[in-house]
Amino acid sequence: METAAAHTATAGEAGIPLGGTPLGINPLGVGTWAWGDCFFWGYGQDYVDADLQAAFETSLAAGVTLFDTAEVYGKGQSERLLGRFTHARQLGGAGEATNPSPIIATKFFPYPWHLRRGSLLRALRGSLDRLGVTQVDLYQIHWAYPPVPVEAWANALADAVEAGLTKAVGVSNYSADQMRRTHAVLTRRGIPLASNQVHYSLAHRRPERDGVLAACRELDVTLIAYSPLAMGLLTGKYGPEQPPPGLRGRRFRGRRLAQLQPLIATLRQIGEAHSGKTPAQVALNWLICKGTVPIPGAKNARQAQENAGALGWRLDEAEIDALDRISDAR
Ligand SMILES: NC(=O)c1ccc[n+]([C@@H]2O[C@H](COP(=O)([O-])OP(=O)(O)OC[C@H]3O[C@@H](n4cnc5c(N)ncnc54)[C@H](OP(=O)(O)O)[C@@H]3O)[C@@H](O)[C@H]2O)c1
Repeated sequence: METAAAHTATAGEAGIPLGGTPLGINPLGVGTWAWGDCFFWGYGQDYVDADLQAAFETSLAAGVTLFDTAEVYGKGQSERLLGRFTHARQLGGAGEATNPSPIIATKFFPYPWHLRRGSLLRALRGSLDRLGVTQVDLYQIHWAYPPVPVEAWANALADAVEAGLTKAVGVSNYSADQMRRTHAVLTRRGIPLASNQVHYSLAHRRPERDGVLAACRELDVTLIAYSPLAMGLLTGKYGPEQPPPGLRGRRFRGRRLAQLQPLIATLRQIGEAHSGKTPAQVALNWLICKGTVPIPGAKNARQAQENAGALGWRLDEAEIDALDRISDAR
């Protein structure tokens, strides 16, 4: 078995460091919740494994190396697919010679039966098996559910680093206070808290108000922004007359979709001034300009290619202000 990123680029080569760790990434990743998820995302209907493998290779070719998965995504199928695609290239498959290696981030889910510190190491070994690697790059706590205190999970994360099962550790859906407590425990163990993965987009700006973005900046923790395209709504392809399919259509409809239209019009207008960038690319670039790392989901090569086009340019201050104002006004 190989480590997940045998040739992880240095920060200098790949853009920015992940928190205070030596891992280098471009400030954009790929979310893989939809990889293997039939229930919410419709895996096997409008996209199949070949589409996902093409999204994987297209992302790597564009320098987008961070792939975010979790033991719960598709009941483990997301990890299995990511492992399969990683191995296919290690066996001399598409892109191995020229593209950078993937940086794999996965997550521990604190199920009610995951109550003891040791359950994290057992769950991580399960993820490593599904991924077919001996070490991941980033291991995250998915949610901080009671009754286990965050200090216990922080110590379990440190155990995972010391056991050589992960290079770096992070959290997800943590408040500023939970982050600080985790950071304190890890610091005592000599390990940086690399990241906090939270819901953040132009349609959901809570991290700016609840202290999480400020705490990330203060503690040198990378804020990984999930659902950065508001589950596809910020691409501009959905609207009141064209709601998203499946369960998303029940969650986002009518007034909610109508409220987003002025924001989408502004994304479109700003994108046109940047040689035809799309609403999705502008929405992702806004998150990059806020100092965060968005991880948009991609179901095929076309989406992966478009999302990678959020890299390599920047919105100016006036454009960021305009987007802040229009998203505040919703
Ligand atoms: N830590 C957590 O609790 C948590 C929670 C949620 C998500 N996440 C992570 O964050 C990742 C991203 O979030 P997300 O998947 O919820 O939402 P998202 O990235 O905002 O939206 C992804 C969806 O938007 C559509 N899309 C993406 N790029 C597109 C493009 N260029 N053009 C047109 N449509 C495009 C696709 O769906 P359609 O084609 O079907 O529209 C895709 O599945 C997840 O995969 C997961 O890794 C973490």
